[in-house]
Amino acid sequence: MSILKQTRTLSNGVKIPIIGLGTWQVDNGDAAYNAVKIALKNGYRHIDTAQGYGNEKSVGQAIKDSNIPREEIFVTSKLESHIKTYDETLKAFEQTMNNLDMDVLDLFLIHAPWPWSEMGKNCDEGNVEAFKAMEKLYNEGRIRAIGVSNFSPSDIDNIIEHCSTVPHVNQIGYFIGLDQDEIDAYCKEKNILIEAYSPLAIGFALSNETIINVAKKYDVSAAQICIRYCIQKNTVPLPKSTHASRIIENANVDFTISEEDMKILNAVKGDPRKWE
Ligand code: A2P
Repeated sequence: MSILKQTRTLSNGVKIPIIGLGTWQVDNGDAAYNAVKIALKNGYRHIDTAQGYGNEKSVGQAIKDSNIPREEIFVTSKLESHIKTYDETLKAFEQTMNNLDMDVLDLFLIHAPWPWSEMGKNCDEGNVEAFKAMEKLYNEGRIRAIGVSNFSPSDIDNIIEHCSTVPHVNQIGYFIGLDQDEIDAYCKEKNILIEAYSPLAIGFALSNETIINVAKKYDVSAAQICIRYCIQKNTVPLPKSTHASRIIENANVDFTISEEDMKILNAVKGDPRKWE
């Protein structure tokens, strides 16, 4: 089965396509509209946006204009990182649904455990409030799955301790070189799916010699190795591109990296965003 038709199953039984189009830093307007339209035209059925990206309106419009039945497309958005109260979360969700012009959202995530402007701040209480509001929307059927993003095991423990739903997803930066063993093991134990954002390390991984050498062996691009690697690590990668040829290339990953080569890639250490 083509990769774009393959899914993983969340702990609540909801199916999520194995690759999604990332839209971070893709401007609202033509850029976001065209990227989503091209992706859908080429078989993608999973689009990842966020309130903080400012592009929900164009993403929603492109989905609408694709004429693909809404239920065939998996759409994720994320709560702005500074929103940490119950009422504001409910309000922000309605704004997202207005922007996207949809009745039901497939996945809603708390974007980060702290506001981006105060990284590291303890917002345990606020995260519980926000998640409880999301649980209400989930129980009402307005959202099909709920989760978190950029959360550490202790951030998730806080949610599990005070809420009744274990988050279905944790979306984190995940790419060759970035050591995510601890969070990998934690999420596996709790049955939380990891979504891999920036699977190409925002492009920097593409110039790494080890990755390039492995790519040559399979006659694929370095980008395809990075994306396939994330799939074989049981995550759902969300590569971002605004170029048609790359959007197509990034989903053309129907090959298997051997165990031996996975070991070579696992041994790459260090944050590749600093390799250059
Ligand atoms: P562009 O949007 O101009 O295509 P990540 O998904 O890790 O955040 O990486 C996104 C970055 O990698 C963007 O700068 C994107 O540029 C670039 N990119 C995405 N796909 C490819 C590809 N197949 N080959 C080369 N660069 C790519």
